Order: sequence, then C-alpha cells, then structure tokens
Amino acid sequence: MKCVKCGQPAVINMRQHRLGLCAEHFLEWVPAQVERAIEKYEMFAPGERVLVAVSGGKDSLSLWDILLRLGYPAEGLYINLGIPHLEYSNVSQQKVEQFAAERGAAFRVVNVQGEYGQTIPEIARRKRGRTPCSTCGLVKRHILNQVARDGGYAVLATGHQLDDEVAVLFQNTLHWATGYLARQAPTLPASHPGLVRKVKPLIRLYEREMAAYALVRGIDYVYEECPYSRGATTLFYKSLLNQLEEASPGAKQSFYLSFLQARAEGHLLPEAASEVEMHPCSRCGQSTTAPGLCAFCRLWEMDGIDHGDTENTE
Ligand code: AMP
Ligand code: FES
Ligand code: ZN
Ligand code: ZN
Repeated sequence: MKCVKCGQPAVINMRQHRLGLCAEHFLEWVPAQVERAIEKYEMFAPGERVLVAVSGGKDSLSLWDILLRLGYPAEGLYINLGIPHLEYSNVSQQKVEQFAAERGAAFRVVNVQGEYGQTIPEIARRKRGRTPCSTCGLVKRHILNQVARDGGYAVLATGHQLDDEVAVLFQNTLHWATGYLARQAPTLPASHPGLVRKVKPLIRLYEREMAAYALVRGIDYVYEECPYSRGATTLFYKSLLNQLEEASPGAKQSFYLSFLQARAEGHLLPEAASEVEMHPCSRCGQSTTAPGLCAFCRLWEMDGIDHGDTENTE
C-alpha cells in the first residue's frame, strides 16, 4: 500500500476513507481533520483560551499535541484521582508532566486527595451505592468544569474520539436513553450559568488513528485502561462495532454522523430537547437539577448513602 499523496510506503490504511498515507502525510492529515471539526461544530475561535483535559492516555495527549501544533493556546489539566492499582494515577501524572516539559506547555494538576481529603476508591468505599467509576466520572466532570470556569477558559476540550462516541451512542440507543441522546454532541454549549462549553475535537477520528498518531509522533502515554470495571461494557460495545466496521468500512462513522444529522433536522427526540430546569448548588454554585447540594458536594457529606447523580451530565 502506498501513500496517495507521495507514493512512499503507507503507514496506515483508512478503509472508510479509501486512504493510505505515509508517516509525514498522516501527521499532516490528522490535525487537518481536527481543524475541520473545530470549525464545523463551532468549537472555538483562534485566540480563545482552551483547557485540555489530559488523562495521560493516547487520545488526550495527542489532542493536546495537535492543538499546540495548530497554534491554539491550549493548557492542560490533569486530575490525580488517587487510584493506587499499579500506581495508575501517579504513572499517568508522570506521563503528562513529561509531555508538558518536553513542549514547555502550561498545565495544572488537581490532586483529589490533597484537595478534598480522600481518593476515589476511598469515597466509593464510604458511599454505599457508588462504584469507583461512577464516583470518578462525577468528580472529573465537576473539577474539569470548575477549573475551566474559575480559570476563565472559553472552553474545555476532552480526548473523546469517534469510537468513544459511537460506543456511547450505541449504548444510549439500545436503552433509548432519550435524555442522554439529546445531549450527546461534539460541542455542548454552556447552557446554564456556571457551566462551561465542552468540545470533542477528535470526533472525526477513529481510535486506531489516534493510536497510530501517538506512535508516529513518539508520544509516550499510559497504555492501561482504568483498572476498575467501567471499561468492560464500553469495550464490549467497541468490539461489536469493530466487527461491523470490519464487514462494512465506514459503518461507525456513518452511524454517528447520521445521528447528528437526523437530530439537527429535528427528526429525532423532540420531547427530550426540552430544557431541564437547573439551580445553582448552595455550596459550590455549579448547576444541578434539584435545589440544595449538587451530587459532587453531597459526596463529602458523611451520611454514607448516595442515590446517584442529579448533576447535568455529558
Ligand atoms: P474517559 O472518561 O477515561 O474515557 O476519558 C475521556 C476524556 O476525559 C479523556 O480523553 C480526557 O480528556 C478526560 N480525562 C479522563 N481522565 C482524566 C483525568 N484523570 N484528568 C483529566 N482529564 C481526564
Ligand atoms: Fe476512573 Fe474507572 S475509576 S474511569
Ligand atoms: Zn506521503
Ligand atoms: Zn456543589
């Protein structure tokens, strides 16, 4: 297989685009896809301050690398969740620090235990009805939003790519979770006071393309998935969708893009699009569906019981 641009041997064949590219042209093509997504979904304008949520994994570190290459003033945020298994959180933090040091890029770290007194596994043990992963998701959402808001960033960018979004779409469709379907989008506007705009600039790229990008760019990242079990269902859906893609190249992309189009044309979910009324949390001020404390602030109450999130989730 040869690069369609220069005839050199291709390092990747992207069947859904019928496109093979050499290393040099692939490293040009990926940022161009990201730039197209930023423009098409009106994610942010040049000069707007972008906060990139970086986990130390291939997707978010590559996203940060691409935004810097494109000339956006992107700063990183790493949340140390205190996951002790194989030093998962500390090793991830080292990868982020090393990446930032190599590029002289600005970043900050929030250490959940240092800031709030307990790690994610400790909170999950204390709160009956909460798993580490549901606690982790809630804590991450809250801190990412808070740091972006308080730091005066225009927008928060995450490393979700097409495979992540398609897996979520598939899961939400299987359950006809209309509320989640209504909110699943490449750009989530700041719909309520205290919430920042959230964007997913890797939305045009498959996960294998991001893995190839990190490899070809020489980005050192954490290979391990979260050591708790949340990944299991998502990984199962991803493998089903990959079987579909194998038989029909482009199926994942078209499932997602057709969904966005149908929704934009108003053929889908009219009832779910109606606005949920939100209230500011009496402690931290972030928007929440019920008056009183938000789900994050309730985590630190000592009653031991938690009946789930009421916060505005992605
Ligand atoms: P995940 O929820 O683990 O699939 O991660 C989705 C996205 O959330 C990543 O691409 C990152 O942008 C962000 N993210 C995940 N974990 C962290 C973390 N510990 N600190 C900062 N951002 C994170
Ligand atoms: Fe963070 Fe599982 S504990 S994703
Ligand atoms: Zn080439
Ligand atoms: Zn709160």
